[in-house]
Amino acid sequence: MTLLQIMPEHDASKILVRTSDPDRIARELSEQGVEFGRWDVPDGYDPDSDTERIMDCFRDRVERISAERSFRLVDVARLRPDDDPAWPEKAAEARSKFLQEHRHSENEVRFFASGSGCFYLHLGDRVYALVCTEGDLVSVPAGTRHWFDMGTRPDFVAVRFFEEKDGWVGDFTGDRISDSFPTLDDLVRTG
Ligand SMILES: [Fe+2]
Repeated sequence: MTLLQIMPEHDASKILVRTSDPDRIARELSEQGVEFGRWDVPDGYDPDSDTERIMDCFRDRVERISAERSFRLVDVARLRPDDDPAWPEKAAEARSKFLQEHRHSENEVRFFASGSGCFYLHLGDRVYALVCTEGDLVSVPAGTRHWFDMGTRPDFVAVRFFEEKDGWVGDFTGDRISDSFPTLDDLVRTG
């Protein structure tokens, strides 16, 4: 379930807003210049099908948004649990990459076709934890301090949109703020 939880930057235990209402989420984020939207996921969508088939499910909307925003690259990022003995290590490594606060030089635009992941947006003196699930589209503006948690059991298929080939390289702030905030697992557990 999609969720937005807003907390003061210095007190993660204080919940200012917690909502799963998509309209409220869109409104709260829009006030901060962050775009949030919802796309329908068609019945024929299968998270385990190949990339082309996944793209086919969303092609019209992907092409429309790409033309509007001048995206030059679109790909599909997929992490799904499997029986590979190396999976836990692979999952932990993937999770650790963007778990600390960073920024990018371009918007970070993601559509969650399935599964979940949490963006933490450090906006002013607040942190907006946005748990994205199936059908959610989010655009994190360039320069926004944020981090991302895919949880201890990463499971998602996300369409990623890029303006430049390396525009999404993380510029890490060195602030350990993420250490004191609830993880994706915590947020979902307390739901
Ligand atoms: Fe990022």
